[in-house]
Amino acid sequence: MRVAVVGATGRTGSEVASEASDRGHEVIPLSRTPEGDQRDVVDLPAVLADADTLVDFTVPEATVEHAHAAAEVGVPLVVGTTGFDDDQFGALVDAADVVPVLKASNFAKGVQALRRVVRAGVAALPDYDVELTDTHHNGKRDAPSGTALTLLEDIDAARRDAGTASGEGDDPRADEARDEGLDRTYGREGEHERAPEEIGVHVRRAGNVRGEHEVLLAGDDEILTLTHRAESRRVFAAGAVDAAERLAGRDPGFYDFSEVV
Ligand SMILES: NC(=O)c1ccc[n+]([C@@H]2O[C@H](COP(=O)([O-])OP(=O)(O)OC[C@H]3O[C@@H](n4cnc5c(N)ncnc54)[C@H](OP(=O)(O)O)[C@@H]3O)[C@@H](O)[C@H]2O)c1
Repeated sequence: MRVAVVGATGRTGSEVASEASDRGHEVIPLSRTPEGDQRDVVDLPAVLADADTLVDFTVPEATVEHAHAAAEVGVPLVVGTTGFDDDQFGALVDAADVVPVLKASNFAKGVQALRRVVRAGVAALPDYDVELTDTHHNGKRDAPSGTALTLLEDIDAARRDAGTASGEGDDPRADEARDEGLDRTYGREGEHERAPEEIGVHVRRAGNVRGEHEVLLAGDDEILTLTHRAESRRVFAAGAVDAAERLAGRDPGFYDFSEVV
């Protein structure tokens, strides 16, 4: 397979290029300042004419442009970039009308497992307080991370399902919270009484941490912590290349990592 990689000079894109190459794929790396075998990203439409798939780990504003190009040329698109606003996300959805698009906030298989475990834990402990912590390297732009936002959606969904399923709980405040939907509290400072519906969200940016997410569930006298830690960017690269391999030949549409890999 010929895999075009935008962001190939970046922390994650470079790992994607190595992983794809190690698997025997022909890699076409692109950069805004090309060196060696890299192609200039302004030539993306021409490059895509010779590619079977495009993998993008860049920045949202650039990914939108790359999605237009992939749709124009008819090349499947794998997106690892995070931090899209609604309009930018809409551009990916539009591209999915024309080509298969797979976007995942985290390509680590362990995170897919974490999502299932978090949903099960939250459903089993509907009255427990939930706090989420996202820790990444000091160069990460978006906060909370895309993975943290995905986990928050999972927590919301599990709590709503648990509320509908049980219809009752020991703590009437928690029942009310389930009816009203859930609130995120980003960090805390000063006087603050914790509401039962609150999900505390904490972001740490330091050093070269590849990515760590922890969901803490606490009741009276017990704590359950569910943690995923990426120890190398290779796990993201492996998942992205898996996605690229399995997206080939699919119909246009917006695909979820868990249904493809
Ligand atoms: N889904 C996942 O599993 C996963 C895992 C890790 C990271 N991510 C996400 O992937 C993205 C990249 O992260 P990273 O840590 O690899 O970042 P990075 O090291 O800063 O690399 C980003 C690359 O994007 C390219 N780029 C930047 N602005 C561009 C523009 N305007 N047009 C074209 N290319 C541009 C740059 O390449 P040139 O300068 O060579 O053009 C740069 O090397 C982030 O959104 C991050 O959150 C996702």
